[in-house]
Amino acid sequence: ASTGAATATSSPSAAAASVGRIPQRRRYLMCRPEHFTVSYTINPWMEPANPTDTALAVRQWQTLYDTYIALGHEVHLIDPIEGLPDMVYTANGGFVIDNVAYGAKFRFQERVPEGPAFMEWFAANGFEVAAPVEVNEGEGDFLLVGDAILAGTGFRSTGDSHRELAEVFGREVVSLTLVDPRFYHLDTAISVLDPVQGPGGADRANIAYLPGAFDARSRQILEERYPDAILVDDADGAVFGLNSASDGLNVIISPRAKGFEAQLRERGYNPVLVDLSELLLGGGGIKCCTLELRR
Ligand code: ARG
Repeated sequence: ASTGAATATSSPSAAAASVGRIPQRRRYLMCRPEHFTVSYTINPWMEPANPTDTALAVRQWQTLYDTYIALGHEVHLIDPIEGLPDMVYTANGGFVIDNVAYGAKFRFQERVPEGPAFMEWFAANGFEVAAPVEVNEGEGDFLLVGDAILAGTGFRSTGDSHRELAEVFGREVVSLTLVDPRFYHLDTAISVLDPVQGPGGADRANIAYLPGAFDARSRQILEERYPDAILVDDADGAVFGLNSASDGLNVIISPRAKGFEAQLRERGYNPVLVDLSELLLGGGGIKCCTLELRR
């Protein structure tokens, strides 16, 4: 069975590290990329002149969906809307903790209509919706690590949205500044490896990150808070290696992120490789296509 079975490890230290890595069942929201294409440019990855293959995007996305199901996760779907090609990147549709969905307010006009579409879905599916005043792109820029929320700014979500986020959830919000336009959302530069909540959660939660994506102040904060973090190198960052989804044991990552894959194995995680090369043409990867729904 694929669920919970750690990959055979090669060294004794790796075997030791894998002890205690327990996968948690996740609940995700995804959107089938039926209308996926690249028709505008709002990040450095998007080049409308390059052709896209929607059928291939759908097949690759389906593999991700099937992988989550095989790992025992619960996946909900929001209907894709014609004319909103980026809707496949559901991570940007909001940020959900304790059944409260803080809605998204997109930075660029092309994606603005997605905000209300996601808020309608949340309301219709039993979530309490907190409508945003400030510009924010949901879980693309907000990551729950233990009990704290890491919040990105610099390209998309504003600093004011970090204050709004703290008011909505009453949790500690740690602002981090992104400086490299290729890594314009926080989830392209940080991967949450142990998404645990509750007492002791903060201590047990670890992350992987790309140091070069952050300014010096943010790097210092990350070093202090996560001394055991996996530091990912630029080559793995540049193939969106960090844009990954973990259940605490299984970490779904790009097959091109070879170094990160090895680092994960050393720490006793089980990397599961899923290729979303077609969706990378829109500047998104595994995590971008995945929004966590925390009841
Ligand atoms: N084309 C989309 C945009 O630029 C990609 C979003 C990627 N999503 C993410 N969570 N990083 O907005």
